[in-house]
Amino acid sequence: MEQYVIKGGTPLQGKVTISGAKNAALGILAASVMTDEEVSILNVPGVNDTAVMLDAIRAMGGSVIRKDVHSFDICGRDVDPYSPGSDTLRKIRAGYYFIGAMLGKYRYASVPLPGGCNIGSRPIDQHVKGFRALGAEVVVENGTVTAKAERLKGAHIYFDVVSVGATINVMMAACLAEGMTILENVAKEPHIVDVASFLNSMGANVKGAGTDTIRIRGVQRLHASEYTIIPDQIEAGTFMCMAAATRGDVTIEGVIPIHLESIAAKLREMGNTVISYDEAVRVIGAEKQRSTDVKTLPYPGFPTDMQPQISAALCLAEGTSVVTESIFENRFKYVDELRLMGAEIKVEGNVSVIEGPVKFTGAHVTAPDLRAGAALVIAALSAEGISTVDGISYILRGYEDFDEKIRDLGGEIRVAESERDVQKFILSVG
Ligand code: EPZ
Repeated sequence: MEQYVIKGGTPLQGKVTISGAKNAALGILAASVMTDEEVSILNVPGVNDTAVMLDAIRAMGGSVIRKDVHSFDICGRDVDPYSPGSDTLRKIRAGYYFIGAMLGKYRYASVPLPGGCNIGSRPIDQHVKGFRALGAEVVVENGTVTAKAERLKGAHIYFDVVSVGATINVMMAACLAEGMTILENVAKEPHIVDVASFLNSMGANVKGAGTDTIRIRGVQRLHASEYTIIPDQIEAGTFMCMAAATRGDVTIEGVIPIHLESIAAKLREMGNTVISYDEAVRVIGAEKQRSTDVKTLPYPGFPTDMQPQISAALCLAEGTSVVTESIFENRFKYVDELRLMGAEIKVEGNVSVIEGPVKFTGAHVTAPDLRAGAALVIAALSAEGISTVDGISYILRGYEDFDEKIRDLGGEIRVAESERDVQKFILSVG
């Protein structure tokens, strides 16, 4: 099985360019089939999850023309809403975005659901609540969600939980409903705003994305568009933590600094230098860093998707740090793996207490999920000696050219497909 092999200890130096936002791309790719006209989507991150979404569009009968590694012309004209919910979609959670897209366009959707994943149960009750409020009949059985409606009428919907997925899914369906929909207690992440902007570029009428209330006036149909996806906030934050943890000096380019404020604030509290430019941030890791506390919250709070990565960096900081994970109920699975490298972390419920600084030493670790995998790579790059990281298929779901980008910053990392590859790497790095 593919794994990363890493020799730690090199401070990362130089520049890295961030790819398009995975969690915006997944919603936008689903929404792209809501019109019968052709849409061009640019800056699509070349990650496995977007590849699955594009395959699913083809499997439904839509056309996908790859212009280059990040650009696709998509046309939903020939999509068959009754095509069997392709098993492709069962691979990723974001497949459920086709429910909102197809229900809006065809008044019918039938999509297979993946189970919960390693970070929590991942229910969809708020999605279902929103679809039903718009007038759809929704049934979840045999692992498939089927939604259908004679008519979709605008409604006033208050989400009980701030949910990125439910906000995007219901927003899509409401774009083609009759009349006004008001969504309250919505998620405000940059990727919500990006999906809303894309829908508006196709002729939808969505106002207030990025605030607590989104107002959507339904339209009859959507039209062609050319749209460029925003840069990935979490990939950028991951490289910021990598620079801090390895005591490096890295400029992360092609970003929207305002999206990174909560991450920059925490790294500054730890004693690092973080300089924001128009479209870049520079992180200079301090030799001695100090502990701080982190609580994950919906945007603009500290992102849950950055919790494992900042925790790895906090292991190397002086003092006791308390990390509270308030979004997901099971997002500390990486702690056992970090302990193998020397971390001193105690987990009680949704709170972890980190004692630092420790000196990470190389070990064989396994990624339990996407962002945990990134955290283990950060730890391995900061460790003394050689580490191997298994389960990199998780990492490839959300990070484009991850090992190449790290090598370009001077990191000693390779993909190994066999023990022989590992030994070759060890010989090559001495
Ligand atoms: C999205 O997941 C992201 N995934 C996640 O990123 C991210 O961690 C999460 O938002 C929070 O920012 C994609 O965008 C594809 P939620 P999503 O609905 O939409 C509860 C990554 O690493 N909830 O905002 O599934 C839920 O259990 C991934 O890129 C309900 O109770 O997250 C959780 O506790 C991991 N009922 C909280 O809300 C619902 O109907 C937030 O979940 C929906 C959610």
